[in-house]
Amino acid sequence: MAEMPILTIDGPSGSGKGTVAARVAGVLGWHLLDSGALYRLVGHAVRKAEADFADSAAIVDLARNLSVDFVDGKVLLDGEDVSLAIRTEAAGNNASKVAAIPQVRSALLDWQRDYARSPGLVADGRDMGTVVFPEAGVKIFLDASAEERARRRYKQLKDKGIDVNLIGLIAEIEERDHRDRNRSVAPLVPADDALVIDSTEMDVDAVIERVLRAVYEAYPETRV
Ligand code: C5P
Repeated sequence: MAEMPILTIDGPSGSGKGTVAARVAGVLGWHLLDSGALYRLVGHAVRKAEADFADSAAIVDLARNLSVDFVDGKVLLDGEDVSLAIRTEAAGNNASKVAAIPQVRSALLDWQRDYARSPGLVADGRDMGTVVFPEAGVKIFLDASAEERARRRYKQLKDKGIDVNLIGLIAEIEERDHRDRNRSVAPLVPADDALVIDSTEMDVDAVIERVLRAVYEAYPETRV
């Protein structure tokens, strides 16, 4: 059986992963996994159930029983449109709290792996290249300075109409990165065989070009 082409893009929040992953998937005609959305959904479910973020057993139970639908570009949780609600920085922070619980991560594992379908997959997250798809043919670790990431995030949230304060945002991003990098399971680190791209001084088109070059080298048959 031919190997399933997989491109993983990991990195800290605000590194531009989401934009790059979506655009590269569009160019290649591959499926897209936004794994952060799954953790954001668990975080949202915890809030909705008014469960305690310290109550791991309740959170694991919610993660195992999530009822999610993706319809017309919208994300529905138990039938409710939560597309915007899961995008706030607070939702990102809640996501990172639930993401530190090992059983939450394993509850989401098969769901994520199921996205690997023909003709290929672009998987965006923190542990795509290290844990979920270690067999991926191309692994990118996209980084940028904390300041630049906060600036990008600020603009992205403002553009979505989400009200945000830059100083608070920098603090939240730092808190979230610290938790993501230092957790005991699947911490945010580049895979040994990842290509690390520092995008601090690069525009998004240059990053996309570099990523596509890596994909065409690994999977020459996908060149369009
Ligand atoms: O990428 P995004 O900002 O949507 O991710 C939200 C949070 O979900 C991250 O801060 C991280 O804690 C968690 N996450 C994770 N593993 C992934 C994707 C996201 O732990 N593969």
